[in-house]
Formats: sequence, C-alpha cells, structure tokens
Amino acid sequence: MRVYNFSAGPAVLPEEVLKEAADEMLDYNGTGMSVMEMSHRSKAYDDIIKTAEKDLRELMNIPDNYKVLFLQGGASQQFAAVPMNLMKNKKAAYIITGQWAKKAYQEAQIYGEAVAVASSADKTFSYIPDCSNLDIPEDADYVYICENNTIYGTKFKTLPNTKGKLLVADVSSCFLSEPVDVTKYGVIYGGVQKNVGPAGLVISIIREDLITDDVLPGTPTMLKWKTQADNDSLYNTPNCYAIYICGKVFKWIKKMGGLEAMKAHNERKAKILYDFLDQSKLFKGTVRPEDRSIMNVPFVTGNEELDAKFVKESKAAGFENLKGHRTVGGMRASIYNAMPIEGVEKLVEFMKKFEAENG
Ligand SMILES: Cc1ncc(COP(=O)(O)O)c(C=O)c1O
Repeated sequence: MRVYNFSAGPAVLPEEVLKEAADEMLDYNGTGMSVMEMSHRSKAYDDIIKTAEKDLRELMNIPDNYKVLFLQGGASQQFAAVPMNLMKNKKAAYIITGQWAKKAYQEAQIYGEAVAVASSADKTFSYIPDCSNLDIPEDADYVYICENNTIYGTKFKTLPNTKGKLLVADVSSCFLSEPVDVTKYGVIYGGVQKNVGPAGLVISIIREDLITDDVLPGTPTMLKWKTQADNDSLYNTPNCYAIYICGKVFKWIKKMGGLEAMKAHNERKAKILYDFLDQSKLFKGTVRPEDRSIMNVPFVTGNEELDAKFVKESKAAGFENLKGHRTVGGMRASIYNAMPIEGVEKLVEFMKKFEAENG
C-alpha cells in the first residue's frame, strides 16, 4: 500500500512514472536491458538524455543561450561550483534565508569574499528579507539566493533587486513547481530529489557566456561547467538512471498541462492547508503569510509533546514524514508536484480530528 509521503526530499514521485519505470526495469524499449545496465554512449541512452533536455527546455521555456547540465554531487556540489566558475573578482553577495543559503555562503568563503547582504536569521528564517535596495558591493560577481527554503517554508515571491549583478538561484525545492522567467537568472540550479527525480543529480541551467575557461585556479575538471557543457553532460558516466526518471517526470508534467497547470495544482493544495492553519486553534503556521512557500509548509502546536504525539499518530494513520526538520522542530508537510490533492485534504481531515481530540 502506498502512503501519503510528505517528505522534504527525497520525496514523492508520480505513481505512473514509478509504474512505467517498473514495467521497463528488465527490458527498456526492446533493448533487452534495464536503463541501469546500458552504456551511457549507446543510441538508446542518447535518446533518453536528449529527450529529457528537450522536454525540460520546452517546460521552462529555456532560451537557446542557456545550457542545461545534468550533474552529480547534488545541489551541495554547486555550492562550490558556483564560486569556482563565477568569482572573477573573488567577491559575491549572499542572501541568507536559511540553512541551505548559509551553507552555500560558507562554502563560497573558501574561494573568495562572500558578503551577507541580507539575512532573516533574527527570526529563525521565518520570513524573506526586503531585497529591494540591498547594499551590493560594486565588484560583486553575483548575487546568490536560495529561492525556496525547504526547511523554513519561505519563498521569494519577488526576486531581489541585484542592481545589475548576475542572479544565481538554488531552486531545489521549487523546481518545476511554477513557471519561471529563466532570462532573469545567470544560473538556476536544483537538486532533483524533490519535484523531479531520484537524489544525487543536480540540474544546472546556465547562461552560455558564464561558461568559460576562466575559472578559479585549482577548480577540479569535473566542477568546471565548461567541461560538462562541452561534453553535453557526458564527460564521465552521468547519473544515468536518475536522468531517465527525470525525463519521465518531465513528460508527466507536460501531460498535466505544464508549469501553469502545476502552479494552479500546487496553489490549490497549499491553500487547503494554509486556510486550515489560519483558522485552527491548535496548529499554527510558522512563516510570515506573504512569504509562504507552496511546497514546504511548517507548522507547530506550540507544545513539543503534542507535536510528537501528532507525528506519531499521523504516521500510524498513513501520513509519513511529517516531522519538522531537526533544527526547527514541530511539523512540516512538503507538498511537491506529485502530492495529490486528496493527500492534503486527508491530512487536513486528520488534523481536524486531532484538534478535536487534543484541543
Ligand atoms: C534548497 C536546498 N538546497 C540544497 C539542498 C542540498 O541538496 P543535496 O542533498 O542534493 O546536496 C537541499 C536539500 O534538501 C535543499 O533543500
């Protein structure tokens, strides 16, 4: 039996994608082998990776002057790759809206001067700071954001005013959840293990002129974007199976109506949960309403014992992974693309019942 899986990542994937992959496990498309067993240089695999890229380009409307790279090392590897490839002046501005942004900021300090130009640490990252007029250093190579903060449940609804500097965004937990204007970014990257596929793969969408040989001295060959771009993400053996699953998820999103439809589906789910939280006497959301993520919804009862009881009882009722991040406590429901509406409706029903019994 499948459960309702509210994990922050790795996370729920569309059931029909998993079924299709299961059907193709022993014999992919008449090749007599699994995608896991096939050469990444084979014709069959070439079709898989090229089709995946084509579908992603269509979904996100990615302009021709942006490269799509399928890379390994997860999103965290890009915390280093970004400064290595972009820090020409050895300076960059970071907006600290949570643990992932902070990790990226700390990693960048190894390679140059990372300047924290805004932060929401004062209120446990429960809001997005005003980024309309930041003090961005004249010689900063880029401005960095984590666009959706998985742990704290906040999302940039307006991109920061970078004052003409390049914008770099980690979109791991909002990837393909809504339409995006790629041209506003120099680099968009995301670990795929939330909305798109299995862990260990990161997709980086990078403006072509930023992919050069002019990288920091000592940059490993594998972390140089140019190495990967010149080899169409096949410099070495890529995460073949993960790319194949992502390709299936891209097709699924297209079938669902694309990113506009995904946005409507995600907003509808989030509204069901937030509307309940806003009128509940027991549960409350932890994020400033205007900054709420439609992907990750943290909430608390205000009583740790009751939180623990809720997590335990919800698990027994078939709702998995509702425990909040270890640094925040309370609960968090991650309601990514593949979470069906009824998963959220049933969760709210369960929360109502819990409130009646414990309120
Ligand atoms: C926003 C964000 N960035 C980065 C990461 C790190 O991803 P990875 O484990 O693929 O390195 C995560 C992981 O959950 C995340 O939520």
